[in-house]
Amino acid sequence: MAVESSSSTWSQRFEQGLHPAVERFNASIGFDIALLQEDLDGSIAHARMLGRCGVMTEAEAEQLIAGLEQVRAEAAAGQFNPGLEAEDVHFAVERRLIELLGPLGKKLHTGRSRNDQVGTDIRLWLRRQIDAIDAALVRFQRALLDQAECHADTLIPGYTHLQRAQPLCLAHHLLAYIEMADRDRQRLADVRRRVNICPLGAAALAGTPVPIDRRATAEELGFEAIYANSLDAVSDRDFAVEFMAAGSLVLAHLSRLSEEVILWASEEFGFVALSDRCATGSSLMPQKKNPDVPELVRGKSGRVFGHLMGLLTLIKGLPLAYNKDFQEDKEALFDGVKTVLDCLEAMAILFEEGLEFRPQRLEAAVGCDFSNATDVADYLVARGVPFREAYQLVGGLVKTCLAEGLLLRQLPLERWQQLHPAFGADIFAAIEPRQVVAARRSEGGTGFEQVRAQLQRQRAHLGRATGQC
Ligand code: ARG
Repeated sequence: MAVESSSSTWSQRFEQGLHPAVERFNASIGFDIALLQEDLDGSIAHARMLGRCGVMTEAEAEQLIAGLEQVRAEAAAGQFNPGLEAEDVHFAVERRLIELLGPLGKKLHTGRSRNDQVGTDIRLWLRRQIDAIDAALVRFQRALLDQAECHADTLIPGYTHLQRAQPLCLAHHLLAYIEMADRDRQRLADVRRRVNICPLGAAALAGTPVPIDRRATAEELGFEAIYANSLDAVSDRDFAVEFMAAGSLVLAHLSRLSEEVILWASEEFGFVALSDRCATGSSLMPQKKNPDVPELVRGKSGRVFGHLMGLLTLIKGLPLAYNKDFQEDKEALFDGVKTVLDCLEAMAILFEEGLEFRPQRLEAAVGCDFSNATDVADYLVARGVPFREAYQLVGGLVKTCLAEGLLLRQLPLERWQQLHPAFGADIFAAIEPRQVVAARRSEGGTGFEQVRAQLQRQRAHLGRATGQC
């Protein structure tokens, strides 16, 4: 059977073919071919349901299904390469089916429209991708957890305003990102519940007089429920916006971590060494080792935020029900999903084998600043001095030390006692960085015992340890 020209895609109402530039402009086959498997799955479920409902014979339905499976096999063999004249993946499959089966192929589209079809395909696709992203988030969390377990005793300066604030347990710092990723997983699981609702059978916009069984197709395709309203079914893209919002937060988290790694890898910080596997050189400066991976992740975050704005803008002015504008949702989703997956994988690899913390540099960093000043105040508080008074006293002490070029631990005991008689020789142990960290026993704090409990909780949650220190 000859392939129909583009003028005959449409009903006999049309006499002329599309202007070639308009054909190119209108076509989505160049990208929505990515939905081929989902389109076949949806069509197979639809055909089976039509057979069961007596809209066609079961034998006809079986032939349609065999034809659709043949298209799948051709695609797997690289032999299904529809051109622009197919317009989109849905037409491409239908055309091939008609070539394969003759007039019977023309029955597949009974009781459905491309509007509910594309909505079904994109949901099936996104559902699968969310599961892949969840797995990628777990891999990333495990990479962080492995590092955190190796550094349950390592200290790192803690910052506020990027000024030294109080020393931290390094594991505590990494655990913060595991928590963020955990919220990302929860958000995506929640989005998935609304992705997993079936629009199939809404037809063009109003439903269909064909006696279909929407619940049968929904169930076969693994959907949790069906859309209650046919107009909403074909014009809802909220789930795409929600996905991109959740994806944006994933990238925001990865971008923050990237920024930290970039700082840590600098000469000025020197907290991590990048391995050759995850760093690049300069074409000109032979000494350079650049943190390209976290820089790219930080940079790529903008793509996902952009897609979120793009999708919101896409839907905001659309009257009910389907509008061709919706075709624009696909490239945003495809690129958004790819970016989230790529960035999660790259960051997981970075923490699995791309960087090493430098405990000596970290240890040296926490010992040579005033990040133990709060603990001097807390020392006085424990001896009955009101906090604000202690805070004022210690501020003055820091000022004197800065003027004299001394650290707090370098002040002799007499100087402490001149400042306040409550000071005893145990002040030196109290302001030692390791003690400063250990003392923060409040729930969720950086104290070593608290951190160990958090590490255990996350290990139980995330399963098997992979890393070695
Ligand atoms: N390629 C179209 C899309 O992505 C499929 C639906 C077309 N429906 C229509 N009535 N023109 O949205």
